[in-house]
Amino acid sequence: MTQIFSPAADTWLRLAVVGFLSVCGGSVVGAIGFARSAYVTSIDNAPHQPVPFSHRHHAGELGIDCRYCHADVEKGPKAGLPPTTTCMTCHSQIWTNAAMLEPVRQSIVENKPLRWVRVAKLPDYVFFRHDIHIAKGVGCVTCHGRIDTMPLTYRAHAFTMQFCLDCHRDPTPNLRPADRITDMTWKPAGNPRDLGGKIAAHVGIRFGELTHCYVCHR
Ligand code: HEC
Ligand code: HEC
Ligand code: HEC
Ligand code: HEC
Ligand code: HEC
Repeated sequence: MTQIFSPAADTWLRLAVVGFLSVCGGSVVGAIGFARSAYVTSIDNAPHQPVPFSHRHHAGELGIDCRYCHADVEKGPKAGLPPTTTCMTCHSQIWTNAAMLEPVRQSIVENKPLRWVRVAKLPDYVFFRHDIHIAKGVGCVTCHGRIDTMPLTYRAHAFTMQFCLDCHRDPTPNLRPADRITDMTWKPAGNPRDLGGKIAAHVGIRFGELTHCYVCHR
């Protein structure tokens, strides 16, 4: 069998179907769309997890850098979730008998990864990568909110097309120095456009090209 449509064409076909339905389907799709956006924007809606992992405790109070656990975030499209061995670097020594950590120990014994419920996820017709955002100076907090204050993880911003486009139209005020990428409380001194403008010139932002449909749908 030869491939008739390229993967990109397939993406566009799915997009067209979604787009077509939202135009013609009117109220029904509107209602579904509303239900979905109400769900994704509900910021205090943290799903139940196999282990009540707390970013507030680990990233906030203990001050562990995001990249210790989300090690691929600068290197590739996905940030990745930590393997259980990362937890065990500490939990083979601290809280070794806590009932709360039983699933962690099980995961090691059975050699099966923990099955976390995902909170930040895009539909598969949207293309995204972490590495370029990190390399060009967009910090984790800009998209994920104050993760370091969350006892259980929830989605701080709904990843709507509007959310992405607002920044892609005008990224300058959202850029920060490379050594502040995972800093949750950093704020620019003075007008964010001054520093942002310098960073944009340094990293080479392709102004005007970032809103093309092809950037996110390919
Ligand atoms: C760098 C060390 C370190 C790593 C890595 C680490 N933890 Fe912890 N964890 C701690 C410490 C310290 C405590 C707090 C013990 C206390 O309250 O005195 C803790 C507490 C916990 C608790 C108890 C609830 C709470 O937050 O107080 C859970 C559950 C937990 N960790 C899960 C995990 C999981 C799952 C991983 C891997 C994804 C992990 N930890 C990785 C150090 C670590
Ligand atoms: C000690 C390990 C550890 C550290 C440090 C850590 N995380 Fe996490 N992170 C996890 C684990 C485990 C999960 C999956 C469970 C959950 O959602 O809480 C997760 C989930 C997430 C998610 C949700 C992913 C999804 O789609 O479900 C985001 C976003 C995230 N982390 C961002 C961050 C940021 C930003 C930092 C730094 C401020 C950080 N993490 C620090 C272990 C860690
Ligand atoms: C420009 C916005 C943006 C920035 C900046 C950003 N993320 Fe994300 N993150 C996302 C989106 C969008 C997703 C969902 C991706 C998907 O479903 O394909 C995501 C998913 C994740 C996940 C879930 C696992 C994965 O890779 O899909 C983790 C963990 C995560 N981000 C951590 C981080 C950390 C840590 C940083 C900072 C070093 C960061 N993110 C910076 C937008 C961002
Ligand atoms: C706060 C600002 C900001 C937000 C929010 C943001 N982006 Fe970006 N994005 C950027 C910057 C800056 C670049 C790098 C631009 C450059 O290299 O010229 C970029 C680049 C990209 C690229 C790579 C383009 C290429 O050709 O390599 C993709 C894909 C992308 N973004 C998708 C998304 C999606 C999808 C979302 C929403 C979930 C999103 N972005 C949210 C700032 C942002
Ligand atoms: C910066 C990234 C980005 C760019 C550029 C972008 N989109 Fe999107 N698009 C998204 C995201 C993210 C979603 C998913 C929204 C959701 O899940 O609510 C989306 C969803 C859609 C949908 C599905 C229906 C809907 O509204 O949810 C259509 C159709 C669509 N985009 C068409 C386009 C067209 C046409 C363009 C060019 C004019 C474009 N997009 C440019 C990020 C982008």
